[in-house]
Amino acid sequence: MAQNWTPSSWRQKPIQQVPEFPDKAALAATEAQLATFPPLVFAGEARRLKKQLASVAEGNAFLLQGGDCAESFVEHGADNIRDFFRSFLQMAVVLTYGAQLPVVKVGRIAGQFAKPRSSNVEVQGGVELPSYRGDIINGIEFSPESRIPDPERQMMAYRQSAATLNLLRAFAMGGYANLENVHKWMLGFVKDSPQGERYRKLADRISETMDFMTAIGITAENQPSLRETDFFTSHEALLLGYEEAFTRVDSTSGDWYATSGHMLWIGDRTRQLDHAHVEYFRGIKNPIGLKCGPSLQADNLIELIDALNPANEAGRLTLICRFGHDKVAESLPKLIRAVEREGKKVVWSCDPMHGNTITLNNYKTRPFERILSEVESFFQIHRAEGTHPGGIHIEMTGKDVTECTGGARAVTAGDLQDRYHTHCDPRLNADQALELAFLLAERMKSGRDEKRMVVNG
Ligand code: PEP
Ligand code: CO
Repeated sequence: MAQNWTPSSWRQKPIQQVPEFPDKAALAATEAQLATFPPLVFAGEARRLKKQLASVAEGNAFLLQGGDCAESFVEHGADNIRDFFRSFLQMAVVLTYGAQLPVVKVGRIAGQFAKPRSSNVEVQGGVELPSYRGDIINGIEFSPESRIPDPERQMMAYRQSAATLNLLRAFAMGGYANLENVHKWMLGFVKDSPQGERYRKLADRISETMDFMTAIGITAENQPSLRETDFFTSHEALLLGYEEAFTRVDSTSGDWYATSGHMLWIGDRTRQLDHAHVEYFRGIKNPIGLKCGPSLQADNLIELIDALNPANEAGRLTLICRFGHDKVAESLPKLIRAVEREGKKVVWSCDPMHGNTITLNNYKTRPFERILSEVESFFQIHRAEGTHPGGIHIEMTGKDVTECTGGARAVTAGDLQDRYHTHCDPRLNADQALELAFLLAERMKSGRDEKRMVVNG
């Protein structure tokens, strides 16, 4: 591996999953212009997230990471962002209450536009076209023109990310996330579901506690942590030309930071040790994620950890495991044992989405029971190994979509056509996301009770 890293040293390496842009001059001009634009996030914020993730690595907090598989230009609107944020806050409050641990909140949002694909081409009705690669690269419409990679889309993605982040910051800091609003985060369609009922009960308990705290003088006015929350952004840094343009030196530390989002991750298809993505990531100081799929061997993982986190800094690296409900028991223990044996400090997070995708009635979908099953196994395996099941990484939306089957409202294969809106992979709807949060909260609570029993003898 080259010793001299620069924001562009990845260009000397082989690269996967990045399309050929036909107009190289236009691409270079776009990248040069992006490099002059203001950063979306600050290094200090990325450091703050890293600190919080260090606490997850040490077993003292839980990571909730989620959002769209792919953000899209057509779905960019205040309602979508607000509904996502509400649904996310509901999950976070359920988890905080259940686990009695701080929940680190990281959205897959404000930059999640580039998609790796398993095939370079898509065939429809006998016609073959290049695959859709996310709105930052080409268009989803099935036409030859739309599928041509267009650099201009990077400008759109930047502007949408900035506007999204602006609203999220306002929600997180401007009063919307105030715990006094815990009842108001309920979305209309969730209200009359079983999850809605469970949530209402929990919200009642929180409100009661807040009333008690007010009586003793602790209020949202004098206690910022009751009225504000830290909310961070993340995305898969697939399109490295775009990322390079936003890689800036932090004037406080002199270090390089990616400023397109707080946390970036490497996808399962682009984690080759001697390739471009690992090269780019090793030089930025942000907290980063690494997707770990069934093909990842333990010795390869250790090499990747050495390359990506040579100082073994807690909070720097989150391993996002996405094996599939039927493979997790085979794959995960080997990786955990290797990491423990080598004394590596990592956050273990479970992505129960990407290993559980199937096709039903021509729709890509994910059965909710398989998602739950992978999460359950993830928790059990960590308990058995004595390690901390640190987080969850999910694809979700605040909308009432029908993309994943199952859940308490039993979305069937036949229902998929009703509200299947995703631009890429199927997402949990707000109801399913809340149901998952309740399950997680129960598992964490029982894990905590077990620990207490051990401590108390
Ligand atoms: C994703 O997170 O949308 C994704 C493509 O995941 P993976 O790299 O794990 O396949
Ligand atoms: Co996805």
